[in-house]
Amino acid sequence: MTTCNPDVERPTVATIARPATVAVIGTGAIGQDLVSKISRSSALTCALVAGRNPESAGLRHAELLGCPTSAGGIEAVLSADRPFDVVFDATSAAAHREHWPRLEPLGSLVVDLTPSKVGAMVVPAVTGLDAGGSRNINLVSCGGQAGVPIARALATAFPVSYLEVVSTVASVVAGRATRLNLDEYVATTGQAVTAFTGVSDVKAILNISPAVPPAPFRTAVHALIPGADLTRVREVVESAAAEVRRFAPGYEILAASVTGDRVMISLHVIACSEVLPPYAGNLDLINSAAIMVAEQHATRLALSEAAL
Ligand SMILES: NC(=O)c1ccc[n+]([C@@H]2O[C@H](COP(=O)([O-])OP(=O)(O)OC[C@H]3O[C@@H](n4cnc5c(N)ncnc54)[C@H](OP(=O)(O)O)[C@@H]3O)[C@@H](O)[C@H]2O)c1
Repeated sequence: MTTCNPDVERPTVATIARPATVAVIGTGAIGQDLVSKISRSSALTCALVAGRNPESAGLRHAELLGCPTSAGGIEAVLSADRPFDVVFDATSAAAHREHWPRLEPLGSLVVDLTPSKVGAMVVPAVTGLDAGGSRNINLVSCGGQAGVPIARALATAFPVSYLEVVSTVASVVAGRATRLNLDEYVATTGQAVTAFTGVSDVKAILNISPAVPPAPFRTAVHALIPGADLTRVREVVESAAAEVRRFAPGYEILAASVTGDRVMISLHVIACSEVLPPYAGNLDLINSAAIMVAEQHATRLALSEAAL
């Protein structure tokens, strides 16, 4: 079983002269963990957390961490004195589709945690952190962040004809917005699998488990591969998992099997965080990717300001 130390195992960024200013829209499961991670980053300053319910637990959480807050939603972001360097959208796919045309003129880097698929898709272990200069980065979904690296590794090494990515998240860490945009989750995760593997016959599934105690975040990748060799399959997926562990230390392959032409890989992501329960790897994985994208942008801004 993976053990995690949240402070020492993650990549660190060099101290930079001016941390990037960050706004978060959405104060639910994803938004609250993002705020915790921003407050621990030396490259980012939590400059605004915008919800829409003044009584929300997420706004109280942000206040306790010293972030300015507003219940004014996107309007609070748009009416700030200066544009934020980075805006995280942790609302819903439908809300993000409305937010983006209003955020775009600000020139901020927008990191979209919803499965809206408006922006350029980033899965760090596969794409790196750049998205061809796009100012709207889409992080696909938690299941996409977990499954795409494995699907991509299999499709690169073998002639894969079918891919299925099935994820399970605990109900207590899947907020209302996650449930509302379940159809977008399925569509966007499937499109990401196709985009990064070249395999057109794919299926994405999300289980929201009501189990008590809460189910850990798990993903199974099923592939149809004629003549796959188990030893080689293990090598390929362990190498892909090592790449993800560079920023999500709780990412671990649990099982790999080959039965005829059916290949099955099972993995889990344990949250490595002082504020998340271990089963919340779904939040930890996508939010760690989001923070890395923002920190790279902060470094780039600091370098270009230093060059002036
Ligand atoms: N939870 C996961 O495992 C997970 C993982 C990866 C990605 N995601 C994605 O992240 C997004 C958030 O998921 P979640 O689980 O954090 O849901 P959540 O707990 O319901 O959080 C969504 C938050 O956004 C707020 N919100 C919604 N529309 C808004 C708007 N137009 N303006 C301002 N605030 C708005 C909600 O406010 P109210 O409280 O007033 O409704 C709520 O605070 C979803 O798109 C989901 O698919 C979730």
